[in-house]
Formats: sequence, C-alpha cells, structure tokens
Amino acid sequence: MCGIVGYVGPRQSEAILIAGLARLEYRGYDSAGIAVIDDGGHLGMRKKAGKLNALRDDLKAHALPDGTTGIGHTRWATHGGPTDANAHPHLADDDRLAVIHNGIVENYASLKGDLISKGYAFRSETDTEVAAVLLGREYRANGGDLVEAFRTTVNRLEGAFTLLAVHQDHPGLVVGARRNSPLVIGIGEGENFLASDVAAFVEHTRSALAIGQDEIVAITPSGVEVTDFAGNAVEVEPFEVTWDATAAEKGGWPSFMAKEVSEEPEAVANTLRGRIRDGAVAIPELDGLDELFRDISRIVVIAAGTAAYAGMVGKYALEQWARVPVDVDLAHEFHYRDPVIGPDTLVVSISQSGETMDTLMAVKYARERGAKTLSICNTQGATIPRESDAIVYTHAGPEVAVASTKAFVAQITALYLLALHIASVRGTLSATEIAQQVLELEALPAKIQHILDTDQSRIEQFAHWMADTRSVLFLGRHVGYPIALEGALKLKEISYIHAEGFAAGELKHGPIALIEPGQPVFVIVPSPRESALLHSKVVSNIREIHARGARVIAVAEEGDAAVLPISDEVLHIPLAGPLFGPVLGVVPLHIFAMGLATSKGLDVDQPRNLAKSVTVE
Ligand code: F6R
Repeated sequence: MCGIVGYVGPRQSEAILIAGLARLEYRGYDSAGIAVIDDGGHLGMRKKAGKLNALRDDLKAHALPDGTTGIGHTRWATHGGPTDANAHPHLADDDRLAVIHNGIVENYASLKGDLISKGYAFRSETDTEVAAVLLGREYRANGGDLVEAFRTTVNRLEGAFTLLAVHQDHPGLVVGARRNSPLVIGIGEGENFLASDVAAFVEHTRSALAIGQDEIVAITPSGVEVTDFAGNAVEVEPFEVTWDATAAEKGGWPSFMAKEVSEEPEAVANTLRGRIRDGAVAIPELDGLDELFRDISRIVVIAAGTAAYAGMVGKYALEQWARVPVDVDLAHEFHYRDPVIGPDTLVVSISQSGETMDTLMAVKYARERGAKTLSICNTQGATIPRESDAIVYTHAGPEVAVASTKAFVAQITALYLLALHIASVRGTLSATEIAQQVLELEALPAKIQHILDTDQSRIEQFAHWMADTRSVLFLGRHVGYPIALEGALKLKEISYIHAEGFAAGELKHGPIALIEPGQPVFVIVPSPRESALLHSKVVSNIREIHARGARVIAVAEEGDAAVLPISDEVLHIPLAGPLFGPVLGVVPLHIFAMGLATSKGLDVDQPRNLAKSVTVE
C-alpha cells in the first residue's frame, strides 16, 4: 500500500519526487525516502520514519546533491516496523543501486536465507531489501545490464509487487516492474514519470500509459520501453487523465475529507453525466453487452469495506429493478470458500482505487471459473478494471482522504445506473418506471447539496458535543442497514470510537442488550410516505431503545412527525424515493464522523494504522 514515484528528465528530481510523494502519502505514511543520481553519477539517498514532513526536515539538514534521475517512496509497513532502517529506498551493489517496492515478496525468507548463505548482509527486516540485494547480484553477474538484471530478479520473486530501481552507472534510467500492484507511466516532454497513481505526476502531464500485469518498463528522458517478464515487447494503452492537479489539492479546505464530503453532490452528478438520455439510462461502456445481461442468472458483488456497503445498497436496486438474485460478498472471503459461480454469473467488483488486492484476487478467481466480470471503479488505468470484462467508471474525481466518502455515493449511483440498465435490457421495468427512477437519481446531487448547505454546521456542532462519547450504535433497515454499517465504519475509522452498525430488525436478537441509559444510537428511518410498513417497524425499534434510555439520533425525512417525540435529535434529509432516502442519510453520518474526529483533534485524512489503497492481502 506504499506510494511510489520515479522521474527522469532535465529537471532536478528531488522537488518533483517530494511533491509526488505528497500526493501519494494517502497510500502509506509511516516512513518515506528518496534516492537521486547526481550529475556526477553518484547515488544519494535519504529516508526517514514518520510522515513526509520528517523526510522534508531531514533533507534540509542533509541536502542531497542535485540530480535529474530519482525514485521516491512513502511506506505502509508490512515486513518490519516503521523505522529509518526499514524505510525505502533499500541500497545494494555497494550502495550504487537503490530499490523501492510496494507489495509483498512472499518468498523473501527463502531468498534471504540463500543470499545470507552466499555471504550477503542485510540492514533491514524488509522483503524489499532482498529484492535489492538480488538485483545487485544479478547486475554484477550479467556485466551491468540493469534491465536484464531486473528481469531475472522479478522472475524469481513471488507475491505482489511494484518495484522501481536506479543505478548510479545509469543516470537517466529508471526501471520498474509490476505484478498485482499498481504502476502507471506519465509521458512528459523530454521527461518521463513512473508512479503508483497518476496523482503523483498529474501536475506535470496528463498523458499516461497503463502498464499491464507482469510487465517491465524502462524510462529515459526521451523514451519508454515496456516488455513482459520474458523480454517480449508489449503494446501499452495510452489514456488521458480526466482531472487536473487542482482536483487533487485541498483548495482551502481544512482537510481532504472535508473537501471530498463537499464534493459528494458533484461525484453523483459526474457519475450520471453522459449516461442518461431522454429519461432512459444509456451507459456507453456497456454497449454491445445486452446478451451478457440477458444470459446471467445471478450477480455476485465483491468488494471490501465501504465499497462493500455500497454493494449492499446496490443489491436492493438490482434485485428490485432487474429481478436478478444478488449476493454481496466481502472480496477477502469470496475466493477462500469455493463459491458457486460459473458462466451464468456476473461478478460485479466495486473499488474506488481499483487496486485493492482482496478484490483483485476475487475478480481473477471469478474469471478463472468462467464468470463474467464487471468493474465499478474510480481510478483510470487501475488493475481491477483492466482485469474485468466490462467497466463502469465512477467519476468522483481523486479521493485522497483515507476514509471513503464521495466515492461511496458515486458507487451507489453507478450501481443504480447499472440496475436500471439491466432492468431495461431484461424488460423487468417499463420505460415509465425507469424514467421515474432516473428522475430520482438526477435529483440526488441537489438534495445532497441541500443537506450540506442547511445542516452541516449543526451536525458538526452536535458532533463536537459528542466528542467524549465512547461508543455509538447505528441501526438501519432495508437500504438503511448498509448505511448504518457505513456510518459506524466511518466513525470508528477516523475517530477511534467504538461503533457498530446493526440491522434494526436484529436488535431484539441480541444487540438490544447493549442499550443502557445515555447510549447514543443513530437510526436511519425510512420514509413514512414511501415505505409506511418499514417506517412503522423502525419507529417501533426506536420506541424499544428509547424506553431503555438510549439517546436516539434519528436520520429521518423532513416532516416525519412520528420520530420527534421519541428522538433526542433529528437529522433531516430531503424527501426521496424508498431506495434513495437512505442514500441521502449517509451524508449526515459522514459529516458527523468528520466533525467528531476533528473535535478530538485527530487527523481525519490519515487515520492511524490505515492506508487508502490496500494492495496487500
Ligand atoms: C473506508 C474505506 C475502506 C475502503 C476499502 C476498499 O472508509 O475507505 O473500507 O472502502 O478499503 O477500497 P477500494 O474501494 O479502493 O477497493
């Protein structure tokens, strides 16, 4: 889950690498380092435990010489704790070679044992240093061909990795390889970039190339060469980054999370854009796939964390509108339990980053078993969409804060579009019924904006009052259930408060034992107009907990009078159809979690122990 950046060109690389790392810090932030080859052909390296600022300070005290070739790394520790020694880059070949790595080299222990028996010494506990030492050895053995040595090395590694290397004998060359971890190429004028994510170089160029699995890339200021692990040349897919550098900046907001919550209306609107025509859903990416949608007999949604909760929301729409049975599976559980899937199964993966290893492995597993795969993803050129038969991009723009917010609402939007598209192909909804749901979808951005405009400061104030709370429960029913799970995840993730989400109907089967006087419980209340029965059930749940002294915070439709006498606080959401109201209900929950964590003085963008993109299993 580390962030990687490489540069070759005419400019001084240090500033470019540090700026790139700043944009990748969301991927890991427990240590950082850079290596630069200076104009005299010497390799200089600095690395430091802690956030990127620790490295910045270190570089002020120990300046690296100027150099126009370099690599940089921001780490999320897997093998070996977050110390200076374990930070990347790792050096080898008498400190003339530097290597950075994202992923896990699974066979590192046996490789290390072998190298130690041959007399090599190690300075860190990492798997990466094993790759560096191996590369140095191969380089010496082949007489100084860095790319070939790299090829031999990566062929000996097992697991998932992106590796970059520079050698002081080769100024103007950065070599990289990827297997199941992200790596993209940025094409500049007389300069080129490598990075885990386009965010690292988008301020310099928006022209990019996506590298496939098991490919090696060598960049120089004037060229890019991509080969497979066997040495055959491969064609790479060019793409233009659709957003610019300002989209990945805070732009005056106190945190990326605050900015991204404020962008929830836009994330929905942009995901809808170009996909609705005359009241019907028209998703250009799905043209030609009607037969696939007609032939499937079930859908399995796979994802992790927040994306899985979006999938659970989508299940209601897919089943109700498209009349296809849907299972939602946590990606990391899916392929370890021999699931029943085959050519009649559509596996829909959902991933903001498109790099989550658990989800990627599940997609590959599904493909191997003949299932059709469709990826809902927010990141162009990412691995999961490249491994899928079809893609529906969410256009939420770059999401930098570790806690996912705008991507969640965009994922639900994409799922709803997909559900309506399949319903139209399978004829399970009439054109009029589809048009009604399309109107609801189109109204979402304005309704989310309304919540932000009218209620954000009140919710933040309320969160501030609750800053000392030690435990918060969230209840929901129907679509409100995954929203309750999302509300709880967001709170625990950024405020470190114990939080649990439950299906409201499950309360009496156990969780009600947790209710004691003063226990805060958020309840996502369905619309009384649209879902009278569900509403009455949830109101009875509120009565049950209210009677036992719970502090009830109802997230309810404007004008819902039934909740007023039994709630301590009501967070209002605008009127919407039954599948849409709870989706609006997540907005106050995102604001609440952010407000509470901010009141506790916590870093909402980079919560402890977490990284944005989980590229290890
Ligand atoms: C929670 C959160 C995570 C991610 C999960 C999947 O706020 O961000 O739970 O949703 O790690 O990540 P993606 O969507 O990148 O596959």
